[in-house]
Amino acid sequence: MTLEIGTTFLPKVRFDANTELRKAKMRDVEQIYTLIKYWAERGLMLVRSHDHLYENLRDFFVLEDEDGYIVGSGALHLLWHDIAEVRGLAVHPDRQGQGLGRWLALAAEREARDLGVPQIFAWTLQVRFFESLGYSVTTREKLPPKVWSECNRCPFYDNCREIGVTKVLDPQHAYMRARP
Ligand SMILES: CC(C)(COP(=O)(O)OP(=O)(O)OC[C@H]1O[C@@H](n2cnc3c(N)ncnc32)[C@H](O)[C@@H]1OP(=O)(O)O)[C@@H](O)C(=O)NCCC(=O)NCCS
Repeated sequence: MTLEIGTTFLPKVRFDANTELRKAKMRDVEQIYTLIKYWAERGLMLVRSHDHLYENLRDFFVLEDEDGYIVGSGALHLLWHDIAEVRGLAVHPDRQGQGLGRWLALAAEREARDLGVPQIFAWTLQVRFFESLGYSVTTREKLPPKVWSECNRCPFYDNCREIGVTKVLDPQHAYMRARP
């Protein structure tokens, strides 16, 4: 898919609108798609196709404001018995820095804990954001091969800039090589 910077427009949203966190519904797909595409065009995340969003909709949380706009998205994708990926984290440009990203990331983490997943990770360029949530930078060698499951479909395969960050939720059951 070719991405042209600046071709995606998001509606202007109110900075102070009340906002609710909930699991995503089918009717949210178009807005999630556009929000992620907006940031993908700016090189900050991978674009997600409609196909991907429909197939993985149950992974997603959204933040909906009182005007009906989706102002944030985030997902927890299960990969293996001991690891899950936090992905699709995006906050509307008009709502940055209000704790919404943290809210979404913590929702994904809560779900991982509820499911008994001992470790979560993300590929990201926003290392400090994840560090503020207790994640640490890791190396590919310390993560199970499953975490590269999508790499061969990525347009940046040969030129990957993303950094792996991980958070151990249950040290006893986390992936062996993640243990100190
Ligand atoms: C990264 C992103 C999700 C953060 O959401 P946000 O709502 O703006 O962040 P929050 O207000 O919840 O910030 C939480 C913490 O992270 C810090 N933080 C947020 N973005 C940061 C950044 N780019 N660099 C450094 N620190 C950052 C905040 O200062 C805050 O720390 P504090 O609690 O110690 O003050 C948001 O900036 C975004 O949508 N970025 C574009 C898409 C993207 O890069 N997604 C990540 C894909 S993995």
